[in-house]
Amino acid sequence: MAFTVERGRKLAFVRAGEKGPVLLMVHGFPLDHSMWEFQIKAFADRCRVIAVDLRGFGQSVSRDEMVSMEQYADDCAQLLDELKIDDKVCYIGLSMGGYVGWQFWKRHRARVGRLIMCDTRAKSDNEEVARGRQRMAYEVLSQGAGMVADSMLPRLVSPDTFQRYPDRVEALKQTILRTNPEAIAAAQRGMAVRLDVTSWLPQIDVPTLVVCGVDDEISRPEEMEAIAAAMPNARFACIPDAGHMAPLENPEAVNRSIDAFLFSA
Ligand code: MLT
Repeated sequence: MAFTVERGRKLAFVRAGEKGPVLLMVHGFPLDHSMWEFQIKAFADRCRVIAVDLRGFGQSVSRDEMVSMEQYADDCAQLLDELKIDDKVCYIGLSMGGYVGWQFWKRHRARVGRLIMCDTRAKSDNEEVARGRQRMAYEVLSQGAGMVADSMLPRLVSPDTFQRYPDRVEALKQTILRTNPEAIAAAQRGMAVRLDVTSWLPQIDVPTLVVCGVDDEISRPEEMEAIAAAMPNARFACIPDAGHMAPLENPEAVNRSIDAFLFSA
């Protein structure tokens, strides 16, 4: 794990691999870079992997009350600056990491060679969902991350994954329990006011892979297939035996799709 420090925020990241395209991995909520364990292992021999902990998450530190998707995207760009990476990157984000990815494309377009959007959405929240986020932001500060693990875990992975990979589910739970409640609140407030980017999709013409677990209840496969259809240069991969955390629940299938996307014509 390495760190960069800039004006009160400390960003942690893992770097693996020395050659090939840069794969910038951005985790979902309320997690950290460890959710990419199977992709880091699979691609470090052919890619330069950078897996970041967004501000406040994992070993990154910040004290913001609210963090916008734009701010997280700017942090990623700044990290690339600090690492002196000028090459275009393949940005891979899951869910909240995808919300950040749309902003990364919008604000740092010259850096984006490819996109891999996993289990994410282009739409913003309706009022009820946004209110629920504000409620969680308020409650987590007094109750701690345990309430977030309890409410989110059953929606993050499919029922089958609970049976087949209890160790992975437990690791996910421990990641959430370790997460600073302030970071959870800040991200929820940021997600509650994030933009609807549906109208951007026809302009996003970089090669894009859209990946979704067949049993994802948070970002449904039909919705993600429609995202891919609205983008001029995107393909869609529906991942069997997986819910919202497809890269962790069925890494073999996800990695095959990424491999074909990156390395086949
Ligand atoms: C995530 O996995 O990042 C979250 O489910 C995103 C969200 O709450 O919309």
